[in-house]
Amino acid sequence: MAKPIQATWGGRFKSGPADLMLKFSESASFDRRLAPFDIIGSKAHSAMLAHVGLITARERDEIHAGLDEILADIRSGRFVWDSRLEDVHMNIEHALAKRIPAATKLHTARSRNDQVATDMRLFFKYACAALGVKVLGVQRALLAVADANRSVIIPGYTHLQRAQPVYASHHLFAWIEMLERDRTRLSTVADKANESPLGSGAVAGTTLPIDREFAARMLRFVDRRGRPRVTQNSMDAVADRDLFIEFASACALFGVHISRIAEDLIIWSSSEFRLVELPDEFCTGSSLMPQKRNPDACELLRGKAARLQGNLQTLLSLVKGLPMAYNRDLQEDKPPVFDSFDQSAICADVLEGTVRGMSFNRERCAAAASDPALLATDLADYLVSRGVPFREAHHAVGAVVALAERKGCAIPDLSNAEVNRLHPRFGTRWASVFDLDRALSMRKGTGMPGPSQIARQFGRWRKILR
Ligand code: ARG
Repeated sequence: MAKPIQATWGGRFKSGPADLMLKFSESASFDRRLAPFDIIGSKAHSAMLAHVGLITARERDEIHAGLDEILADIRSGRFVWDSRLEDVHMNIEHALAKRIPAATKLHTARSRNDQVATDMRLFFKYACAALGVKVLGVQRALLAVADANRSVIIPGYTHLQRAQPVYASHHLFAWIEMLERDRTRLSTVADKANESPLGSGAVAGTTLPIDREFAARMLRFVDRRGRPRVTQNSMDAVADRDLFIEFASACALFGVHISRIAEDLIIWSSSEFRLVELPDEFCTGSSLMPQKRNPDACELLRGKAARLQGNLQTLLSLVKGLPMAYNRDLQEDKPPVFDSFDQSAICADVLEGTVRGMSFNRERCAAAASDPALLATDLADYLVSRGVPFREAHHAVGAVVALAERKGCAIPDLSNAEVNRLHPRFGTRWASVFDLDRALSMRKGTGMPGPSQIARQFGRWRKILR
């Protein structure tokens, strides 16, 4: 038999690929990180082949032992990757062939198309779990900071203008909520990944009597009761990249969240606000201006969010308009996915470190939160409780605010007479509204920043983030 130019598919070729083509088309440089998944996939596949009698038990055992050795070589850095072998799959199969004759049977009833789809589903299950743990780390750090600053009150902002007072912990809980949705989204993606495409072949399955459910069970593609979950259409199984997009989308949205958190921290730590101090460990200086201490970690978190969105866009564009089923374009699906995973992971670590090292500037917070204008709405509510329609109350308080501004004094420093001239229902107890603790304690409803609700949220998050 003639020796093929390319070991795995060279049978019908007269000449091998040009060096330029090899360089252009290789993916081993980036898909090698799939090796652990590729190897457990191959072990399950060969176990299934033995189970249905397509290879012997002995061949299966040789294949398993060979794959284990290869994985050990890869882990220790001894493995020699060859980009001329295109991708992770062929590098591993080639290495196995050098060890054992049975290697030539491993690819029975399998294509790289269902193989890579399987590898990536295993990767997504791992990546979602790993990222989930990192996001949890950020949430725990936020909870610790909230706990250490329970009594701190800050202005809540709308339009970046002081709006109404909130406990700092309420603001931090808002971030924890955002991140909780990220964790939920990641576990949804992991659940969708939990179906085995193995056995779909290149596009139309195989004529050989394989047992897809057996392989699925071995790879833990099972439901909660241990029943195998397998994809239901061989063409869709090898063409589908929805998971890639959903994973990148979950990362992009996580990026949006951390970018908003980072932006709050940048604003809070600016000279103008000075509500918080960010840790030295996550700030940098200026090479020119000796006084500078810049929030670079937060700025980079904001910047990385753009990159995460770009990866999502790359994947959407990649798949759009592709004919059924597998096309080589799809090899380009991995770099953006891996990048989204790596960048999201390091962003989570950096944000956790930044949060753990931040401190609230209590005097500045107290000064900002004691601005009586923050309770102008409470004053309108006071009039409402005395029978004034809200729109009328709003207008009257607006006039009070304008008067204080004109006189250059704080609202509570106006006299009863001045205020009652603007609306007779202000009466004599209107100034009691400007007690900050009282104002907060009146915000009792679910989700509001009153102390009773804050206590409830501490309890809730402590349980969820345990
Ligand atoms: N490296 C390829 C990829 O990531 C594996 C599948 C190749 N299949 C093929 N028919 N060329 O898409």
